[in-house]
Amino acid sequence: MSLSLTVNGKRRTSAADPVTPLVDVLREEFHLTGAKPVCREGFCGACMVLLDDKPTPSCLMPASLAQGCEIRTVEGLGAGDTLNTIQQALEACDAVQCGMCFPGMVVTLTHFLTTSPRATRDDIRAALTGNICRCTGYERIVDAALTALAKE
Ligand code: FES
Ligand code: FES
Repeated sequence: MSLSLTVNGKRRTSAADPVTPLVDVLREEFHLTGAKPVCREGFCGACMVLLDDKPTPSCLMPASLAQGCEIRTVEGLGAGDTLNTIQQALEACDAVQCGMCFPGMVVTLTHFLTTSPRATRDDIRAALTGNICRCTGYERIVDAALTALAKE
C-alpha cells in the first residue's frame, strides 16, 4: 500500500513502510533535503517542517500519520527562487554559520513571525528553544528575526 502525502502543495506518493520517519521520506524519496535528521529524538529542531501550519519535528512523525496533512518544508517557504522575509533577513544579518540548523530555524521563525507580529527579543528567544544551533550564533539569528518583523 502506498502512502499519499501533500508536500509543498503537491500530492506525492511513497512506497515507504508506514512507520518510516517523515524526514526520511522527504529526503530519500522526494529529494527535499532541507530537513536534517540530526538527533532523531525531537530535541534539536533541524528536521522541523510545518504540518498543517504547525512546526513539527519530522524525525518523530511516522510518514503514514502525515497523510491528510499539508506538509510544508523549507523548500516550500519562499516563492520560487525568491527567499522569504526571514531568509532574506538571516542572510542580511550574516547569521548563517555552518548552516546545519538553518532549515529548521527558518521553518520555526517563518511560522512564529506570522503568528507573533509584535514579538520582542525575549519572545523570539523563547520561540527558538526547540531549535539548537551548535555554532551558537543565536544573537544574529534573533537580530534577523527582529529585522524581518520590522519589514512586515
Ligand atoms: S532530528 Fe528531529 S528534532 Fe533533531
Ligand atoms: S549555523 Fe551551524 S548549527 Fe547553526
